[in-house]
This record gives sequence, C-alpha cells and structure tokens, in this order.
Amino acid sequence: MSINKVAVLGCGLMGAGIAQVCAQAGREVTVIEVSDEFLSKGMSGIERQLGKMVERGKLDAGSQAETMKRLHGSTRLEDAAEVDLVIEAIIENIEEKNKTYSRLDRVCHPETIFASNTSSLSITQMMTATGQERQRRFIGMHFFNPVPVMKLVEIVRTILTDAEVFNTATEFAREIGKVPVQTSDRTGFIVNRLLVPYMLDSIRALEEGVASIVDIDNAMKLGCGHPMGPFTLGDFVGLDTTYYIANIMFDEFKEKRFAPPPLLKRMVLAGLYGRKSGRGFYDYSDPQNPKPMNLL
Ligand SMILES: NC(=O)c1ccc[n+]([C@@H]2O[C@H](COP(=O)([O-])OP(=O)(O)OC[C@H]3O[C@@H](n4cnc5c(N)ncnc54)[C@H](O)[C@@H]3O)[C@@H](O)[C@H]2O)c1
Repeated sequence: MSINKVAVLGCGLMGAGIAQVCAQAGREVTVIEVSDEFLSKGMSGIERQLGKMVERGKLDAGSQAETMKRLHGSTRLEDAAEVDLVIEAIIENIEEKNKTYSRLDRVCHPETIFASNTSSLSITQMMTATGQERQRRFIGMHFFNPVPVMKLVEIVRTILTDAEVFNTATEFAREIGKVPVQTSDRTGFIVNRLLVPYMLDSIRALEEGVASIVDIDNAMKLGCGHPMGPFTLGDFVGLDTTYYIANIMFDEFKEKRFAPPPLLKRMVLAGLYGRKSGRGFYDYSDPQNPKPMNLL
C-alpha cells in the first residue's frame, strides 16, 4: 500500500512540523484544527518555517509555493475521509484523543491507517476507541521536536497491528526523509524509556550533592559526547513535560527509576518549567548566557 494522501490532526508544535515534512515530500496533506484561529496560526507558522529555509538557501521559492499548495486546512474531521494515513498530533489527553478516534473511525475509509504521535499514552488504549477492523490498522508514529530537523521516528505496533500496516508506516517515514525505528507499545517506547530515567538520575545526583548543575552538564557533554547536558536538555524539553511523562511511566511500571524526584516536583509547582517559562535549572533572563539557579 502506498501513502499519497495524509491528514494531520492538530497543527500545534508537532502537527505543523509533521504536516510540513509530509507536504515537502510531495504528499497532499489535509491539516485539521479545532478552530479557524488555531488553523491559521498553524498554517502561517509552516509558511514562516519554509520562508526561513528559502532565506538560508535550503529551499527555492518555487518549492515553497508548491509545498504550501499541497497543504489544505480544515476544521472538519470529515475532510479526512479519503486519506491513506491520519497522523494525530492533538493535545496529550486520552479522553480527547479517544473521542476524536471514535468519530474518525466512522468518517474514514476502511483502509485508512491511524497513527498517533503520542509521547506517553498507550496506543492500545487509543486503538480501543475504534472498531475491530481499524484496530489492525492502528499504530504509533512518534516524531521528535523540531520535526523538520530531527530525523528519528519511532514506529509503534500493538499486539493487533497488521505486519503490512507496520511496514507501510515504516517505509512512509523513510520516504519523507526520516529514519524509522520499530518498537512495540510499551510506555515510553525506546527513547523515553532510556532518556527519562537518565534525566531523573541527574536530578537525584544534584539533590545528593554529587556536583553542581554546570559540572554535571559539562561532565555528560564532554565525557560522553552528548550535544547538551541533562539539565540543559530538561530545560529545553520542558520540566512540566518531563514530570508528566515520568509520572505516567512510574504509574505503568512502578519502578523507582521512573519516579520523579522531589526537586523536580517542587520546580514544576513553582512554575520553573525551563526555557519556555524563562527559568528552570538555568535562568534565561540573558538567553545567550544562562545562569545556573540556586535550587538546594
Ligand atoms: N512537544 C513535543 O516535544 C512532542 C514530541 C513528540 C510528541 N509529542 C506529542 O504530540 C502531540 C501534540 O503535542 P504538541 O506539543 O504539538 O501540542 P500543541 O499543544 O502545540 O498542539 C496541539 C494542537 O492540537 C489542537 N487540537 C486539540 N484538540 C484537537 C482536536 N480534537 N482536533 C484537532 N486539533 C486539536 C490544538 O488546538 C493545538 O493546536 C501530543 O500527543 C504530544 O505528546 C510532543
């Protein structure tokens, strides 16, 4: 099966990037949002991103115009009826996702593949909002932020996913210029399964007085060749998001390595979310020169 027409649900941070890369790869893309306001915000964001690529000489103006022509905005789920693949990137809320999947199942062609970009929710739980036939055509496609830059996509199968659907989605990720890895529906998939305990351990090391924020960051950057240390990374991802995912993983596995340390909880309660709120492990008042916070 080849994927020519795609619908992307949600045109926020992730949906906009996913719609952009699919359209750049020559696919017709229907972008669905909850309101005209969110839709036009998302679509103009994509146009701006493409404009920046033209300025940097990474895209010519003709390709920018053609890409925009392949993007069709809508606020009606019914406009996803005839697509080959739906990639859902709406808010991370199981009730909202399941409500959307149950409606979508009635609207879409029986062959349409459903893919969720969720970071932490169960693909299997979302799948149960659809009928038996669709359940075989239900997968996860987990992209990384920023989508146009990050190469990885985790392709996630449930115990009911058809092998052909799993392979079609994997091949599609390759066709849009990504590097797919295949995994199964276990909370956190591959990356968060390994990354979240590492980030939580770094916070525990800080709490236990092993070293300072800057020294732990430098140690992991220079000692392991990581592009950034764990605290810089946490501030970039968002500490509220990290806390949320850690809680979901701890609930699922009941293992200490996924338990959010008290310092992380206190920081989130205090509104220290990282870069997006101006303060996290570092203070970004001067964004070019972040200063470590005094947290202990
Ligand atoms: N932010 C990340 O780094 C990241 C990385 C990988 C995966 N994800 C996952 O991607 C999904 C989206 O995250 P985001 O960061 O783009 O969120 P976001 O808040 O930036 O965007 C979500 C968008 O979905 C829209 N929306 C909400 N309900 C909708 C509905 N019923 N139909 C259509 N649109 C709807 C909202 O208006 C909003 O524009 C989540 O499941 C998240 O876990 C996020």
